[in-house]
Amino acid sequence: MRALVAFGTKYGTTGQVADEIAAVLRQGMTEVDVLDLRNGKCPDLGGYDLFVVGSAIHMGAWTKEADTFLKERSPELAKKRTSLFVCCGDVVLQRSPIDECRKKYLEDVAAKHSLAPERTGLFGGVLDFSKYGFLVKALLNGAKKDFERKGLDMSKPYDFRDWDQIRAWARSLM
Ligand SMILES: Cc1cc2nc3c(=O)[nH]c(=O)nc-3n(C[C@H](O)[C@H](O)[C@H](O)COP(=O)(O)O)c2cc1C
Repeated sequence: MRALVAFGTKYGTTGQVADEIAAVLRQGMTEVDVLDLRNGKCPDLGGYDLFVVGSAIHMGAWTKEADTFLKERSPELAKKRTSLFVCCGDVVLQRSPIDECRKKYLEDVAAKHSLAPERTGLFGGVLDFSKYGFLVKALLNGAKKDFERKGLDMSKPYDFRDWDQIRAWARSLM
């Protein structure tokens, strides 16, 4: 059994999640490759039995590279076992209900690319305002208010990833 874990990221959070999913899959699969979709080089997908495709959510959408991957490779992905996951802030800041996040970031994306994923994973992400430039900070002004309302300190980084949840999800893929 060979698996490919492909991901789109801007700040690295989703890549670390992809690595952890791959580490779990390696306990039960012969070969597991991890692909950062920013690299632009996409391997031949023919040799894989299972695909896990994930993305960070930025401004309500998958990264351009991850979305393009789904768009271009969905005919191949649809023929195999494929699961999708996202890392996002909304799930923790609760800017919209969890079911809405799942629909918007996973179910609608799958439908847009004519995919019926075996499993979908909705994970928290990392918010670290010290890493963002002026423009990104301005774009995130709404989230900043939600942060403050929750009593969180904007000057500190927050990692909302639940590694037990992520590992359990990865085990469920095998
Ligand atoms: C500019 C920017 C926009 C974001 N927009 C959203 C959003 O619309 N919805 C959401 O749930 N999370 C949003 N987030 C939170 C990211 O999904 C979270 O930080 C994630 O961990 C980023 O993953 P990455 O490090 O792999 O890029 C945003 C973060 C940034 C920096």
